[in-house]
Amino acid sequence: MFKSIAAIGACALAFSCTLANAGQEQAPILIKFSHVVADNTPKGQGAQLFKQLVEARLPGQVEVEVYANSSLYGDADELEALRNDQVQMLAPSLAKFEQYTPQLQVFDLPFLFDDLEAVNRFQKRAKGRQLLRSMETQNIVGLAYWHNGMKQLSASKPLLQPGDAAGLSFRIQPSRVLEAQFDQVGASSRKLPFAEVFEALRSGQVQGAENPWSNLYSKQLHSVQPYITETNHGVLDYMLVSNPRFWFGMPHRIRVELEGIIDEVTYVVNQQAEAANQADRQRIEASGKSRIIVLDSQQRDAWRQAMRPVWQQFETAIGADVVNAAQAANRKRRE
Ligand code: SIN
Repeated sequence: MFKSIAAIGACALAFSCTLANAGQEQAPILIKFSHVVADNTPKGQGAQLFKQLVEARLPGQVEVEVYANSSLYGDADELEALRNDQVQMLAPSLAKFEQYTPQLQVFDLPFLFDDLEAVNRFQKRAKGRQLLRSMETQNIVGLAYWHNGMKQLSASKPLLQPGDAAGLSFRIQPSRVLEAQFDQVGASSRKLPFAEVFEALRSGQVQGAENPWSNLYSKQLHSVQPYITETNHGVLDYMLVSNPRFWFGMPHRIRVELEGIIDEVTYVVNQQAEAANQADRQRIEASGKSRIIVLDSQQRDAWRQAMRPVWQQFETAIGADVVNAAQAANRKRRE
């Protein structure tokens, strides 16, 4: 008798034990998955697929509620909500982790990655994988990287040479690297949540922005930006994250099943992201609302030269080992 009371007491203290006592009627584990983009984007689709697979494979055991378009939390408060277990999964853009680790700033360095395949190689190699665990002391655990795509510069005027951006104000994510990037071309920047970008551009509060095609199209940003220069100057990708107390507190069997599902969803998102972005590029072109400017190699090189000093500025904070590993990912090797 004493033993079982002690066991019950211990269970009351341990979340995992409570959940492990299946068989006795248990409420399903609820995962609130909040994000800031539309459903018809790589992240939006990934969140929906995750929900579908979880509810098919863990019926009655895990439920997933997806909140898109900043409808539950927005950029300003979603990470704090995760750290406080008010929401259990997020997939913020990598630029939004700056205050939790400087290492992830590597993803914001302009013209560091040649293309999305190079980004993919870096994320899969040892250094990229280590970064998934770089925020555990901050109550954030990385579960996977999800692609969106390469960023393009949009503006109220045509941007052909770096000097064309001088004097304009660009909306940026909360990243000092992105701030420095626009300083380098004589532009200013404003850190604004994603939910405010359309209105800021429409009202002229800022005159430019940087986004992958899918975010431009799904938020109709192209309708208030008459020019988009196809710079591919940086990447906008995501880290799927949870709160380690929640994640590692789940019964092992359920966590392993969820991790398998995440692997499957990650594969699908990362396979389809580039095609989704290209389809949105075509939709923007077909809309006739925004002119797409394709740079020749000399023009692209001029942007690269102008923005490149940002690397030196941030290399010590990020770590030369991380920057070198990212650069090395531009070269293919037998994986
Ligand atoms: C997102 O794709 O999650 C939004 C990125 C941004 O804030 O620009």
